This record gives sequence, structure tokens and C-alpha cells, in this order.
Amino acid sequence: MKIGCVKEIKNNEFRVGLTPDNVRAYIAAGHHVYMEMGAGVGSGFSDTEYVKAGASLIDNAADVWHLVDMMVKVKEPLPCEYPLFHDGLILYTYLHLAADKQQMDALLAGKVKAVAYETIQEKDGSLPCLAPMSQIAGRLSIQEGAKYLEKRFGGEGILLAGVPGTPKANVVILGGGTVGMNACKIAVGMGANVSILDVNLKRLEELDNLFGAHIQTLVSTDSNIERVLRDADLVIGSVLIPGGSTPKLFKRRYLSEMKPGAVFVDVAIDQGGCGESSRVTTHDDPVYIEEGIVHYCVGNMPGAVPRTSTIALTNATLRYGLMIAENGLEEACRKSAVIRSGVNCYCGKLTNKNVAAAHGYEYAEID
Ligand SMILES: NC(=O)c1ccc[n+]([C@@H]2O[C@H](COP(=O)([O-])OP(=O)(O)OC[C@H]3O[C@@H](n4cnc5c(N)ncnc54)[C@H](O)[C@@H]3O)[C@@H](O)[C@H]2O)c1
Repeated sequence: MKIGCVKEIKNNEFRVGLTPDNVRAYIAAGHHVYMEMGAGVGSGFSDTEYVKAGASLIDNAADVWHLVDMMVKVKEPLPCEYPLFHDGLILYTYLHLAADKQQMDALLAGKVKAVAYETIQEKDGSLPCLAPMSQIAGRLSIQEGAKYLEKRFGGEGILLAGVPGTPKANVVILGGGTVGMNACKIAVGMGANVSILDVNLKRLEELDNLFGAHIQTLVSTDSNIERVLRDADLVIGSVLIPGGSTPKLFKRRYLSEMKPGAVFVDVAIDQGGCGESSRVTTHDDPVYIEEGIVHYCVGNMPGAVPRTSTIALTNATLRYGLMIAENGLEEACRKSAVIRSGVNCYCGKLTNKNVAAAHGYEYAEID
């Protein structure tokens, strides 16, 4: 199969769909890989590395789109890329179609076979191509929080770990899923006092078994949240209700009860945020201060570390991509319900129930 990869053109997106190691894996499996020149530069991969891995370089994106059977990307195609769709093209990338009718209509009209990373679901219900981004956002949340606790950013001016003879910082994590657990790992590693709150008792038990005496686990109730926030130096918002809107656990009235200069990193902002005072910020201008509390609400946190993010993402996407390339999409779907779960559009038909429901479209099975 002819596999292609173009440079991402979305604002501030530096990840790339294929690393040189991925190229090597596709070529070893008997495929051809066409890379747009400079596609990997934002993630620290040079054209020379891709050529050494066996890729053919092409100097413009349109030629790559026209040439290939399967395009491997990171973000959804932008409107200027829609005219490059062709009948039967396999598009393998994040799509988020439930929130993007224009793109969905373009994929249907272009008769593209679109496989979305975010809906690929393993038998145990896990979303393997989404998890690495939550791991990164969770770990990064403590790193960013520690930075914005510095005085020059409006923070309290404290070091998370303290030093002998000074208090350690109190870190509060709202939601102990993938983001929360990874935030917890880094905060504990840095020597902070950590409280983690969740509604899922089984999850709290797992966290307790994992981190033992290093953390305090609490059931997420309004009174527990209010109590721990009063002493918090750094708060991480990492709650998710799959398919539902994020509950506003961090009420505006708590702000005035907190320590001035405390930092709130609302990782859940991409789903609306779990703070009443949260509003989306960008990497260019990541923080604002409200009632003395520093708010960091960047919706695409992994974009800050594109090299790690690219490697983590492609570690997850490569194996499914190889299965599709080896079998063709139809046979891959027959062999694997996991691949099938990723197919959102197929030759003009909408093949994901949730996306169809979100837009009131008819759902169809792949033939
Ligand atoms: N900003 C970014 O760049 C970025 C990157 C990755 C993920 N995210 C977002 O981070 C959020 C968390 O993602 P995740 O992968 O950790 O999800 P997850 O499903 O693994 O974890 C969510 C946790 O929230 C808990 N929860 C639900 N209701 C709660 C409540 N009322 N109080 C406390 N806990 C509650 C759940 O029990 C679960 O443990 C999501 O909104 C996700 O989209 C943002």
C-alpha cells in the first residue's frame, strides 16, 4: 500500500503522523511511504532521517494526498485540504466529527474511508490512541503548575517540594483517571503533599494501593472539595464523564477562600472545564488571574511537547495502521472489531453511531 504523511497545518500543531521508526516499520512490511518535506521538523525529525528510513520525500502536500492509498495524520484535515480527498482514500487521524459537521460532510462527499484515533476502542473499553495524550497532559499539568507557582507569574512563590525546614506544597487532584493518576505520579515524585478526589471508590482503592502513604484519597463531594481547596497550592482539574458535560466541581465562590497565588490547572477544559471560572487559553497566552488564583486552561496541552507527544501517539497508532495497510480496511475490519470501532465514514456512509446521533444522520454498517 502507498502510505502518506503531510505536515500538520493547524495553528501551533507541531506533531507529525509518522516518525522515522514508523516509516521503517511500514517499509519492512512491504509498503511505500511518501513524506511531505519538512513534515517532521516540528517534532525534531529531519528529512534526512526519513530518507534513511526509506521514505520518498515529496515537496508539496497536494502531491502526497493524490498519490497515496492511506494518509496518516495527527489532527483533522482543515477546509483547504478537503479538495484533496479522493474516492477510497483511507484517512487515519484524530477527527472528532461529533463536533465538526462541515468536516464530516466533506469526508462523506469525498467518499473517504475515515478512521478516527479517538474512537478506536479495545475490548476492555479502553481508548488506546487517546490515553497517551491524557498521560502527557497529566504529567505536564504538575510541571506547568510548578512553573506558574513562581512569583513572577502571579503565583504564591513556593517550591512544590519545599526544602528541609519549609512546608511542602499541597496538590489537590480532582478526578483520578488517566490524567489524575499521571499528575499524581509526578506530584508525589516531586515530594508534594497530594490529595486526590474521585467519585469512583474502586479507583480510589487502586490509587491508594499504588501510592500508599504518599497520598490522601477522598470521595469527591462538595464539602470535601471545599475543605481541601482552602489549603491547596496547586489544583488539577481532571474530571471526565464520558459523553457528558464536565461537572463544575470548582465553584467560583471557592476562589476567595483559597490562598492568593494558588494555581488551578484545568486540564478538563477541552470538555468545557471543571471550574466555574475557567475559560480556554492558548500556549501563546496560557494563564490569567481571577480573584488572586492563577488559571491555566490550555485545551491542547500535549502540543507543548510535540516530540514526546508524537512518539507517544505513534507508539499507539502504528500497530492499527500496520493492520489496515496489510489487510486493506475492509479485511482489517472483518478480522478486528477494534479497527472497526475506528471507522467513522466509509465511502459516503456514516459508520459511527455516536457521530450519526450527534448530527441526526442515518447510521450505516460497513458492507
Ligand atoms: N487539556 C488537554 O490538553 C487535555 C489532554 C488530555 C485529556 N484532557 C482531558 O482531561 C480530562 C480527563 O481525562 P482522562 O483521560 O483522565 O479521563 P478518565 O476517564 O481516565 O478519568 C476521569 C475521572 O474523573 C472521575 N470523575 C467523574 N466524575 C467525577 C466527580 N464528580 N468528581 C471527581 N471525579 C470524577 C472519573 O471517575 C474518572 O476516574 C478529560 O476532559 C480529557 O478530555 C485534556
